[in-house]
Amino acid sequence: MADEKPKTNITSIAPGKIRVKGYDIAELMGRKSFAEVVYLILKGELPTEAEGRMMDAILTSSIDHGITPPSSLAARIIMSGGNPLNAAVAGGILTIGESHGGAIEQCARYLQEYTGRDGEPGLVAKDLLRDLSLKKIRIPGFGHRLHNVDPRTVRLFRMADELRFSGKHQRLAKEVEAAFKKDGKDLPINVDGAIAAVISDMGFDWRLGKGFFIISRTVGLVAHAYEERIRQKPMRNFGVIEHEYDGPEAREL
Ligand SMILES: CC(C)(COP(=O)(O)OP(=O)(O)OC[C@H]1O[C@@H](n2cnc3c(N)ncnc32)[C@H](O)[C@@H]1OP(=O)(O)O)[C@@H](O)C(=O)NCCC(=O)NCCS
Repeated sequence: MADEKPKTNITSIAPGKIRVKGYDIAELMGRKSFAEVVYLILKGELPTEAEGRMMDAILTSSIDHGITPPSSLAARIIMSGGNPLNAAVAGGILTIGESHGGAIEQCARYLQEYTGRDGEPGLVAKDLLRDLSLKKIRIPGFGHRLHNVDPRTVRLFRMADELRFSGKHQRLAKEVEAAFKKDGKDLPINVDGAIAAVISDMGFDWRLGKGFFIISRTVGLVAHAYEERIRQKPMRNFGVIEHEYDGPEAREL
């Protein structure tokens, strides 16, 4: 069987010409914002002005969350060990998982699946809660260790309202939050849940969910890795001094 040529519809290259989704990259440069071109490359078309602003807000919302999340800690520890910037940033990205950034993808998946069901959003939210609780799965995109009201969530939902992106996925997410409350649980929609709901209402596939977080947080990770390099000494103490040894007692060979 003859080898088939791989196909791509992202970027075409020829000597002196680079076209992203058909647009000349030199023409995009300086005329479209980074967020608008991210939208173009992920969705295939340039955004409207409103879509571009929403995309920009989403990318800004996750750019950094301080020195404590697993990704910035990992990036700093790797840098502290004497590794290059790319290793530190890659290590930070590898920590992104179910409990850190990865919730966008899973939350968008549930919202997209359950909004396809018949019924009042309030009842569908109850079904979602019951189904996941039976499987002992936490609903991704809800709850936060630090923020009862996450300012990023408030801002994203307000912008989505103003720019008319409020649709069935945000409605369902808000119904889930209300259903938790009725059960006596204060588990607000966190920023991952808000991004999941908004990107779903913008028509993005849930399988791109983690991508939004990675694109945004990479910027913060570069800043953390760089700061570690220029402000801290190598092999510094990362705080785990107090600990208990409970292995075998000292013994003779
Ligand atoms: C973010 C998170 C880790 C914060 O956890 P926390 O504030 O330390 O809360 P705890 O792990 O102590 O859980 C407290 C209780 O709330 C429940 N709970 C917390 N988040 C829940 C969720 N998303 N869905 C269902 N139940 C949840 C726990 O099961 C626990 O119940 P229990 O006391 O009956 O055992 C947690 O809410 C979570 O796992 N959320 C889902 C993942 C997510 O959205 N991550 C992105 C964070 S921005």
